[in-house]
Amino acid sequence: MYNLKSMNIEATEKIIKKDKEERDITWEFLATVDELKKKGQLTKWIKDHDILLYEYEGEIKAISNVCRHFGGPVGFHKAKNGVFTCLWHNWQFSCKDGSCITHPSLPLRQYDLKIIDGKIYINLLG
Ligand code: FES
Repeated sequence: MYNLKSMNIEATEKIIKKDKEERDITWEFLATVDELKKKGQLTKWIKDHDILLYEYEGEIKAISNVCRHFGGPVGFHKAKNGVFTCLWHNWQFSCKDGSCITHPSLPLRQYDLKIIDGKIYINLLG
């Protein structure tokens, strides 16, 4: 037997939660698509986040530029064959998803992006 009252409360709570989550997302301008295409990959600091932005297999992606080993700059060098190599001690990370090739339990953080009118925005909470 269905309890319509509790079902309505559950549904309403879900809607309120979803609305709150969407309100809490802060999309920050990161770069233009043209800027990224000119450089191939770039790094930017946004509100204490060091971001590595790049294009991989036709998709624009953003991951943390802070190495999980000792915080070295993952995107200092251009990626080669789909792999970033950290400047400091050569840990390697996949361009596909920021996973760590040399130490698989220590992936880089991935960020959600959206592109509007040629501008790339990043969700720092995502
Ligand atoms: S800080 Fe990146 S490999 Fe050591």
